[in-house]
Amino acid sequence: MGRKIHIVEVGPRDGLQNDPANLSVDQKLEFIARLEAAGVARMESGSFVSPRAVPKMADSPAVFAALKRNSRTKHIALALNETGVRRAIEAKADEINFVLVAGEGFGRRNQGMSPQESADMLAKCAPLVHEAGLPLSATISVAFGDPYYGDVDIGVVGNLAAQAQRAGIAELALGDTIGAATPWDVRQRIERVRMEAPDVSLRLHFHDTRGAGLGNVFAAVEAGVDVIDASCGGIGGCPFAPGATGNVATEDVIWMLHRAGFETGIDLERMIETARWLEGVLGHGVSSALSRAGAFPRL
Ligand code: COA
Ligand code: ZN
Repeated sequence: MGRKIHIVEVGPRDGLQNDPANLSVDQKLEFIARLEAAGVARMESGSFVSPRAVPKMADSPAVFAALKRNSRTKHIALALNETGVRRAIEAKADEINFVLVAGEGFGRRNQGMSPQESADMLAKCAPLVHEAGLPLSATISVAFGDPYYGDVDIGVVGNLAAQAQRAGIAELALGDTIGAATPWDVRQRIERVRMEAPDVSLRLHFHDTRGAGLGNVFAAVEAGVDVIDASCGGIGGCPFAPGATGNVATEDVIWMLHRAGFETGIDLERMIETARWLEGVLGHGVSSALSRAGAFPRL
């Protein structure tokens, strides 16, 4: 058995929130069902944010209400404030992922918060999630660079991680919302966060905006990280990060990992098929390399 790398599929949330296509609830459910059939065991299935801020996620309550639940798949809900956390609990999310922000420029525009205000909001919301008996994770968005203010001090990321640990989160993601990271930054920031928050396990979240996405996954796995976010087809982006493109593509990530002997529990062929199916539903091409080139060797 190779080392297991757990993929968190974020296509239904990070992917669809910024796509020009408007999927119906039924199309979102079919996307989720296809991902499950491919072997995805944990995915961000929606977000509970202001429908004015992100109209494409306005139907997340309907999506969660209609999910065909099974004991194998955990459906994560994203939330950024107390209203969102309460709505996510109400929707019977299996887990809540809270968004912290490491840059003031992005923080103000994305969620009306400074980095410290986002940490204070997490401290306020964490007890609600714990009382509901749900796992709580957090993502530090723009952890490698802010689209408006530029470089993000590594100290801010470390400080947020320490506060997140104190709030009692189980897992922390470093989010490269705008594709600013290089593999060397990834290693450095992982080391810093491990020093400041030794009790939380790490997950890494990359966007492939500047071509360093798979290199960054490599750096994270080499640094001992076992959980990686990715989106089928590499779809996505953030409405509040100009020019941001999609996440690293799930099929590209798992192909690279499987070739190297890691296990993900995901069927590569079915993931490629799902990316190709998605192109039809979205009405445009997706950016993943494997949906274009197919696997090597041929499946
Ligand atoms: N779900 C639904 N509605 C919400 C909400 C939530 N979680 N939080 C706030 N709202 C509503 C309020 O009821 C209010 O509605 P009203 O104007 O009709 O009275 C309005 O949104 C503004 O509320 P306020 O508390 O003043 O928030 P804000 O304007 O400072 O915005 C956020 C803060 C977090 C609600 C908003 O910036 C947001 O939803 N951002 C999401 C960004 C996102 O998802 N980015 C991608 C993922 S990182
Ligand atoms: Zn993202």
